[in-house]
Amino acid sequence: MVKEKARKSSVDAAEVERFSRHAGDWWNPRGPMAALHKFNPVRLAYIRDQAAMRFERDPRSVDCLKGLRMLDIGCGGGRTIQKLAGMATEGRICGVDYASGSVAVSRSKNAGLIESGHVEIREGSVSQLPFPDSMFDLALAVETQYYWPDLVNDMKEVRRVLKPGGRLVVIAETYKGGRMDKLTAPAMKLLGSSHLSSDDQRNLFLSTGYDDVQIIEEKKRGWICAIGTSLNRSIR
Ligand SMILES: C[S@@+](CC[C@H](N)C(=O)[O-])C[C@H]1O[C@@H](n2cnc3c(N)ncnc32)[C@H](O)[C@@H]1O
Repeated sequence: MVKEKARKSSVDAAEVERFSRHAGDWWNPRGPMAALHKFNPVRLAYIRDQAAMRFERDPRSVDCLKGLRMLDIGCGGGRTIQKLAGMATEGRICGVDYASGSVAVSRSKNAGLIESGHVEIREGSVSQLPFPDSMFDLALAVETQYYWPDLVNDMKEVRRVLKPGGRLVVIAETYKGGRMDKLTAPAMKLLGSSHLSSDDQRNLFLSTGYDDVQIIEEKKRGWICAIGTSLNRSIR
């Protein structure tokens, strides 16, 4: 059973400020985001393979995600967006993050792609995504779902912007029962972040309108990947 977060029901200004403060470090491989840098290439290959499998593409082809409309939620400094754009020629890659500093970095690093209309980066919360209904084939949430203020409604909001049959992929390194759990759980608790087990994650997807749910515990890699397909019918 996924517990609703008691701590907050809307975006926490201090948390946004904390993420914004680190915005200058997104692209610094030796700064506070060093761990994300280390994981990023492996993650991207993993995301590419998962997406290619689900959309029946050949992951070995350079633009294997060609034509897809994708949304990176909690896009940070915009590195994933840049890489996705390379795999999805003729597609549209959007990013959203609630920290204005990160949005600024993300936009400057993707300036050429934004100018050509291939990429769009918006400031906003997952709780109220600044995109129309049924826009995306694929939504990604990499190392961000922990911080969402209202998991149940936020998952439904993501589903709103997915096309019927579109996929949501959540990747999290910290999860109940995970390899890093003992190390990271106390800090995550202090931050008031959610802390889901793989069963919680499955129940969350199923109760918020996703079908065909798959939870993959990548024990060696040290993360969990949860994937669901947006149902055609609405669940509110
Ligand atoms: C740990 S970082 C991960 C960044 C990026 N996805 C990556 O893997 O490199 C978490 C990101 O999620 C964003 N974020 C957290 N809660 C959010 C929310 N409710 N709405 C939008 N963005 C959020 C933060 O501003 C931050 O950029």
